[in-house]
Amino acid sequence: MHKKPLTTLPTDTVLVAPSILAADFAALGNEIERAENEGADIIHADVMDGHFVPNLTIGPPVVESIRKCSSLPYDVHLMLDEPENFIVPFAEAGADNLTVHVEIEANVHDVLGAIKEQGCSAGLSLRPGTDAERLVPFLSDVDLILVMTVEPGFGGQAFQPEMLSKIERIRDFIAEAGRPIHLEVDGGIDKTTAPQAIAHGANVLVAGTSIFRCKAGIRTAIKQLKA
Ligand code: DX5
Ligand code: ZN
Repeated sequence: MHKKPLTTLPTDTVLVAPSILAADFAALGNEIERAENEGADIIHADVMDGHFVPNLTIGPPVVESIRKCSSLPYDVHLMLDEPENFIVPFAEAGADNLTVHVEIEANVHDVLGAIKEQGCSAGLSLRPGTDAERLVPFLSDVDLILVMTVEPGFGGQAFQPEMLSKIERIRDFIAEAGRPIHLEVDGGIDKTTAPQAIAHGANVLVAGTSIFRCKAGIRTAIKQLKA
């Protein structure tokens, strides 16, 4: 299938990526269609293995099924101890961007290379407790940096305000790198925290609860995040 890596989207524009973890899984296809129709830019899917994080979510067959529900880029966030074993399956299932964590044991350069070999854009994420400096060796390899603004594993947690200075620091690294790299934030992003994250340099906003559980609807929720 024709890939839509995130390198095809501008890094100087605020983009919203609804996290399907907060959607109604009994109606996942409809929820994704609704998100696209109501202003989403990217679809964010969280993959968890019960080891890297204490939760289990979806695998390649689910990504393959939901891929048909939208023409937006699919951003797949791999919270796995051994993501190297799942790059090809998720790429073949239709992922356009694959993000792995810098805390993994495998050689991060190799894993990022394997992602690019599949025609996907490559993202690198870090937990709240991981130093921003850990990203420095990979700035010439990554298309996206994902700053976790909560401890990964579950939706619905509160944004950690201490992450704002980290976002700013990474924005400086990106400027020094002198190449287009998306700066994505994930966890507790809502109409209050989104403007703070943007002000500190984020351009891709992942949000689950504040979008799929917004009483005023998805369109309003996305508008509020971009406002
Ligand atoms: C957390 C996931 C997030 C999560 C965000 O481990 O990576 O994508 O779904 O959910 P909210 O927006 O509810 O904090
Ligand atoms: Zn995520």
